[in-house]
Amino acid sequence: LYGESRNNSKGLEFGLARDRSRLVEDMAKAPRAVEGAGPLYPGAKARGNERSVLSPVDGATRAGTVREASADEVPAMFDAGLKGFARWSRTPVDQRAAAIARLGDMLEAETPRLMALLAREAGKTLPDGLAEVREAVDFCRYYAAEAVKQFGEGTLMPGPTGEENRYRLRGRGVFVCVSPWNFPLAIFLGQITAALLAGNAVIAKPAEQTPLIAFEAAKLIHAAGVPEDVFILAPGGRELGAALVAEPRVAGVAFTGSTETAWAINRSLAAKRGPIVPLIAETGGINAMLVDATALPEQVCDDVMMSAFRSAGQRCSALRLLYLQEDVADKQLEMLKGAASELSLGDPMDPATDIGPVIDLEARDRLLAHVEEMRRSQKVLYAGEAPGGTLARGTWVAPHIVELDRPDALTRETFGPILHVVRYKASDLPKMLETIAATGYGLTLGVHSRIDATVAAVVDRLSVGNVYVNRNTIGAVVGTQPFGGSGLSGTGPKAGGPAYLGRFALEQVVSINT
Ligand code: SER
Repeated sequence: LYGESRNNSKGLEFGLARDRSRLVEDMAKAPRAVEGAGPLYPGAKARGNERSVLSPVDGATRAGTVREASADEVPAMFDAGLKGFARWSRTPVDQRAAAIARLGDMLEAETPRLMALLAREAGKTLPDGLAEVREAVDFCRYYAAEAVKQFGEGTLMPGPTGEENRYRLRGRGVFVCVSPWNFPLAIFLGQITAALLAGNAVIAKPAEQTPLIAFEAAKLIHAAGVPEDVFILAPGGRELGAALVAEPRVAGVAFTGSTETAWAINRSLAAKRGPIVPLIAETGGINAMLVDATALPEQVCDDVMMSAFRSAGQRCSALRLLYLQEDVADKQLEMLKGAASELSLGDPMDPATDIGPVIDLEARDRLLAHVEEMRRSQKVLYAGEAPGGTLARGTWVAPHIVELDRPDALTRETFGPILHVVRYKASDLPKMLETIAATGYGLTLGVHSRIDATVAAVVDRLSVGNVYVNRNTIGAVVGTQPFGGSGLSGTGPKAGGPAYLGRFALEQVVSINT
């Protein structure tokens, strides 16, 4: 288990040809498609209306089939979950933790197969797929260790003689976990493992775009020792999600996705005249990076490429708006355009690929419409090219760099490889900080400066969850950089941090007059 020191899952040296080719060979051995994915709960029908899941890479390769659950099945899921909860919440935390730690080991052992599926179903490149499996493993190990520390017999509180006061954490009931397609394994499992370790039963609805990787992970959760009525998989769309959240017996909701959907969930929970239950929401951001004249241009260039374009910009942590001090802007922009033109778009299974497709047609069309709008009202400085040939039918958006004439020209999160840049005068820095604060988001922020006072002023002024100084702004590491924001970016607590499990739990104090 995770100890006091860092114990993240092991990586792979992509630079070593031998390691790389072994990985690619192992990935090629993985089954080409996942058949028979569907809802998992006792009594679930095996068959029904199945649909094919097509790969975003070429819009044609079938990644598998899935039967989606209908809203009519929700009451039966809760019946099962409540039965499971009655036993699971009384299962000693060591046993719950052992099952989740086992899950971590199983995921790690299956890394190539899971990466192949992440590439096919979600268009994840090799470095992204590997990082994602590792993050999922880390969540299992870190939360399992935290659960053992925080749950269990509880803590004796100081009190008067003749009285024993015991504070303890326990499960709340059936938790609903709703997860996004951009981390279809890591965020899916991060929510679920935390809820389970805290002693809850879980009904998990994966994103509509990525039910297959969720199904494979769900089978591993059961194989690791979590009973079938304690963890329930509910693949489906918006209507199913709404029915799960509206069910009167829901004990809490963990959601990662858009701010709009978080508001809708909040409204649905508030409309019930029943128990008042927690919502844990992690949404997006209009994430900024400030670069002043003292920053190192080469390092800025690497960090911007990574922050804005890695994972095709489909990370809630990704950089959307780069503030360049005007004295260095021209030189920096030349470097950025040059570096963007070196990025290679292509088959995510190819180790040479930097950027895969965006998740689906809807995402592509929305992003391309944004580029068109920017062409009309602002200045597009760089536009890359989408791949052709056999990949032409995939959902591609090439990297773009857009210069804005004012920072508030960007009014919404653009969830893709589009970087916006704005120039600022050194004397306008305080005004720029006000514009960043005025977006209402607070997820990630980058600062590139060698002046300590500037860094301190920026960090101090902005209520942002994760601030990165003189580095990139993505890829928060479990147990090292607990991740999450505030305001329009979410409710907290931070994923991969010590306060996360507590939000899934009921706090109880037992006071005994001895
Ligand atoms: N945890 C991820 C990151 O830090 C989120 O999108 O990039």
